[in-house]
Amino acid sequence: MGQATPRVFIALPLTEDQLQPLSDWEIVRRAAAGPISQEELREMLTRATGYLGSAQTRVSNELIDAAPNLRVISNFGVGFDNVDLEYARRRGIDVCNTPGVLSGAVADLTIGLMLQLARGVGDAQAMVRAGRWVKGAPPLPLGADLKGKTLSIIGMGRIGCEVAVRAQAFGMRVLYQDARPDCSPPDGACAVDFGEAVRQADYLSLHTNLTTESHHLIDAAAFGAMKPTAALINTARGPIVDQAALYEALKDNSIAAAALDVLETEPPAKDEPLLALPNVIITPHIGSATVETRDAMARLAAQNLADCLAGRPCANIVNR
Ligand code: 8YV
Repeated sequence: MGQATPRVFIALPLTEDQLQPLSDWEIVRRAAAGPISQEELREMLTRATGYLGSAQTRVSNELIDAAPNLRVISNFGVGFDNVDLEYARRRGIDVCNTPGVLSGAVADLTIGLMLQLARGVGDAQAMVRAGRWVKGAPPLPLGADLKGKTLSIIGMGRIGCEVAVRAQAFGMRVLYQDARPDCSPPDGACAVDFGEAVRQADYLSLHTNLTTESHHLIDAAAFGAMKPTAALINTARGPIVDQAALYEALKDNSIAAAALDVLETEPPAKDEPLLALPNVIITPHIGSATVETRDAMARLAAQNLADCLAGRPCANIVNR
């Protein structure tokens, strides 16, 4: 190779096997477990040529400035709102993501949350555990069928399409807005504009990237336009929803319920008002969190990093 072997910093606990594509490079791993601080990341990036880390870990422009050798940021995740893409591009840094391999897992969770909203499995289980199951007595308010209900998908990309296919299998009518040119929505799903998607939804599910345009896309006006019986599902990014407006909408029952896998601040503060509402379900950003999907993400993130460092073609660069 002639020059010193470039160092790659791996911020996540990945296995040797998952990192096999990087066997030609000097790998530096974190000694500590748990979330990485910005100070630790800065320290590691000052000497790194490549970096592989969570799509949830911010790589600020200031950190980029402190990393003179950095050529590749390989996100473990499909999202890329943790990096200023244009700034990285100007600094000659490729930013990569892991699309496709996690679409099924996120779609599964979306459907699971919708079923939970419709049927209240969690509340039913809590009731049984609390010894409140009385034989013959109606234990909880009746749930709702998904069949015949309308699911509106905001952001029809890979994940949105997977959600649509699953929802149609449940007999739902699927509307979508903002289809990516490279995705084929299933037959029977109808393209509508944003206003129509919001107004007609029994379930409004978000699958768009977080950008300056989509920040607080779902705001008080959107909640005002939704049916009072409708529910919001967010497995994309927290800041797409104006969380204060969501709280008001749920509190006043101007919409019926919400299921959120992502929040504006993760984890939420102990006094986050949404935590006190009975008509909201919150899960801790687990959309891609299955054994199979996380393994596929790890391998793809390592391959992306190796390809970019070696100057090979890489289909998953998001900032060129
Ligand atoms: C996280 C995600 O990356 O894919 C994304 O964009 O948000 C998640 O898959 C995951 O939590 C790994 O850190």
